[in-house]
Amino acid sequence: MSAFTALRVHSPEKNRTEARFDSLQVDELSAGEVVIRVAWSGINYKDALAVTGKGRILKKFPLVPGIDLAGHVESSSDARYQPGDAVLVTGCNIGEVHDGGYAELARVKADSIIRKPAGLTLRETMALGTAGFTAAFALRRMLENHQAPAMGPIAVTGPTGGVGSVAIDLFKRAGFTVHAITGKAGKADDYLRRLGADEVISRQALDIGSKPLESARWAGAVDNLGGETLAMLTRTVKPWGNIASIGLAQSHELATTVMPFILRGVSILGIHSVECPRAWREDIWDKLSGEWRPRTLDRLVTREVALRDVPAACEDLIAGTVTGRTLVRVSGAD
Ligand SMILES: NC(=O)c1ccc[n+]([C@@H]2O[C@H](COP(=O)([O-])OP(=O)(O)OC[C@H]3O[C@@H](n4cnc5c(N)ncnc54)[C@H](OP(=O)(O)O)[C@@H]3O)[C@@H](O)[C@H]2O)c1
Repeated sequence: MSAFTALRVHSPEKNRTEARFDSLQVDELSAGEVVIRVAWSGINYKDALAVTGKGRILKKFPLVPGIDLAGHVESSSDARYQPGDAVLVTGCNIGEVHDGGYAELARVKADSIIRKPAGLTLRETMALGTAGFTAAFALRRMLENHQAPAMGPIAVTGPTGGVGSVAIDLFKRAGFTVHAITGKAGKADDYLRRLGADEVISRQALDIGSKPLESARWAGAVDNLGGETLAMLTRTVKPWGNIASIGLAQSHELATTVMPFILRGVSILGIHSVECPRAWREDIWDKLSGEWRPRTLDRLVTREVALRDVPAACEDLIAGTVTGRTLVRVSGAD
């Protein structure tokens, strides 16, 4: 195979990183049984942290970032995959420990690969990417823990982001009333309502006290922020409600009391998409391509960028100016 282009993050000195485009040979990629010609990737919050160097995501240098990729198998030493197969990888430590999706070719472990589900194109799998997978993972865990539409509305925080946007669609489709608690109230209301939000609530204008238990308002929540927002949710979720703890866009800290857990039976469900057990992973992709397939998949993608534009697009994501999902066209073959 001839040389190909990859975005790689280098660390020329301690605590400083630099993203640049390199010309690589396949043998320079981290080890794996399957070489994939990448068609599409996407930009998640974690990717933006890795590329800009704003977060310590990468475990070694140099490394190709990109925690998601979809494309066609070029070669495989694992009998499960043949050249030409349409496949995808989300998480599984690519773009963190192993070279990831921001390159024309990727070499990955066969066990991390999911066959493209019949109900989605390769482009659509990356319109969802880790963000969509994670939102679906939250829905799965909440339903398993007896969350039901009749219990009342679900709050989604960070709703204009990738995970939040897909979560609105998925929960609405599953029959829930959805309240989007956003920092962009007044600016993104149309976008959020078109995805299915029944109410758009300004995070800054929320006036909730600081008692261990405040008046219960939401039946459950999908939280992308952590910090004060997650603490507020523990105080305001109704008896037996579930809070899917996904992100830390506001803070990694959580200051709350045991009161919501022991007096309201509230549960915090941890969501860890990177190392999700394979059987769950396959089931979630199956559902995303069928009964949970987002109705607003087209609207979720607000930007499509070429590989060369990934560094600038990552800066935008960190600046908080982006709404929805950013797709990365690598070769663009469907
Ligand atoms: N646990 C997992 O497996 C997993 C998987 C994927 C993502 N995540 C995490 O989930 C979070 C969301 O990921 P994403 O890909 O959806 O990110 P994203 O597209 O960047 O969206 C994050 C959203 O959070 C809000 N936000 C951003 N910065 C904020 C700040 N400083 N304070 C308060 N709100 C802020 C914004 O929404 P509004 O303006 O609408 O409020 C923004 O759109 C991230 O923390 C990410 O690391 C975790």
